Amino acid sequence: MTHPQLSRRDVLGRGALGILAVAYGSGGRSRLWSAEPENGDLIARQATPFNAEPPLAKLVEKWMTPVNSFFVRSHGTVPEIDPKQFTLKVEGLVDKPLTISLAELIERFPSASTTATLTCAGNRRSEFAAIKKVGGVQWDAGAIGNAEWLGVRLVDLLKHAGVKAEARHVWFDGSDVITEKNETFSFGGSIPIEKALVTTPTGATLLATQMNGQALTAAHGFPLRTVVPGFIGARSVKWLNKITVSDRPSPNHYVADVYKLVPEENAELIAKTSPIYEFMLNSAICLPASGANLNGDRVNVKGFALTNGTTGRSIKQIEVSADGGQTWVPAKLTSPVRDFCWVLWSADVPLTPKTESLVVRATDSSGEVQPQASPWNYKGYQFNGWHKVSVKRA
Ligand code: MTE
Repeated sequence: MTHPQLSRRDVLGRGALGILAVAYGSGGRSRLWSAEPENGDLIARQATPFNAEPPLAKLVEKWMTPVNSFFVRSHGTVPEIDPKQFTLKVEGLVDKPLTISLAELIERFPSASTTATLTCAGNRRSEFAAIKKVGGVQWDAGAIGNAEWLGVRLVDLLKHAGVKAEARHVWFDGSDVITEKNETFSFGGSIPIEKALVTTPTGATLLATQMNGQALTAAHGFPLRTVVPGFIGARSVKWLNKITVSDRPSPNHYVADVYKLVPEENAELIAKTSPIYEFMLNSAICLPASGANLNGDRVNVKGFALTNGTTGRSIKQIEVSADGGQTWVPAKLTSPVRDFCWVLWSADVPLTPKTESLVVRATDSSGEVQPQASPWNYKGYQFNGWHKVSVKRA
C-alpha cells in the first residue's frame, strides 16, 4: 500500500534503511533521542515522568492531531533505543518463537497504516474531584489525540509465528523502567486474541514505527509501539520489545492491578475484575475555554466525541446545552467519520442572560447516550459524564 506522505519506496523500497533514515535523517538525532518530547504545545501535568496534554483549543484545530499537540502519558523513563541493535521477541503459545530486528520486521511484512484515536483511560480524571478527588495525573480533557499510524499488522507477525489453538491473549512488554513504592518494573499491556487477529484496515492492531508520516518520537515509543484501535491508550505499548501469546491476560502490573474499574482498593476485588479494554462513549467542549466571557446572544461551541471503541459504532448525535441540560442544540460534524476515531463537531448555540455553563452529550448509533454523571472509581478511569464548561456573560 502507499502511504500518503511517505511512499512505499520511501519506507520499504529502500528497505529498513528507509525507516532508519527517517529516524536518523532530517529530524536530527538529538531530537529523536531526547528524553524531552517536543512539547511546545503541551501543558505539563507531571514533570518526571513526563505527562502532558495540549490546551483543549489545540485539539479542535485538526482532525489529525499534530505530534507537537499530542498528549504524552509515560509511567517511567523514556528509554534510549538504538534502532540498529533493536530486536523484538515473539514467544509463548506459538509454533515458531522468534527474535526479529526492526529492519527484518519492516522488510518481511507488508506495511499497513491506520488512523486511530488514542485516549488515556485517565482522561478527564480531574473532574472526579467534584465527587471525591482521586490520585494520579490530574488530566483535563486533553489526554486524547488522533493520528495516522504506519507499521506492520500484528496479525501478520502472529500468523508467521503460528498461533497455537490454546491462545487467548497477547501480551506486550515495553523497555521503560518504572519505579513505584521502591519496586522497579517495566510497562506491559495485553489484549484478547480476537482483537490481535483482526485484519480490517480500521481495526487491525499495528506494530507502528511512524506517527503522522514521521518516525515515532522518543516520547511516543520510538522505535516501535503497538496501536490498538478502540482500546484505552494503556494497551498501545510504547518501546515494545516482546510479544507473548498466552492463555491468560498479562500478569504485568498495568494489566493485573491497575487499569481496572473498581470502587475501592481491595486486592480480592481487583484480582477478579477484568482489565479495561475498550474506551467509553465520550465527548468534550474544547472551545470556548472554561471561564470565557461571552458577549452577544450566540456562541460557537467546538469539541470532540468518541464512541466506546466497539466495532461498528459511530456517533449519531451531539448536543450542546446553554441552560444546564433543559434544552439542547444539535451540533454538526466537521471532520471525517471513521471507525475508532474521534469526530470533531461545531454548534451555534443561543445564550440566555442566565447562561452559566455550556454542556455537551453524545449519542452513538446503538442509541447509547453519554451519562450525565460518571460512576466513581478509586483510580479515576473512564470519566465520561456530560462535559461542562463554566462561562461568564459579559
Ligand atoms: N507504554 C509504555 N511502555 N510505557 C507507558 O508508560 N503508557 C500507556 C501507553 N503505552 C505507556 C505505554 C498509556 S497509559 C497511554 S494513555 C499511552 O501509552 C499514551 O501514548 P502517548 O504517550 O504516545 O500519547
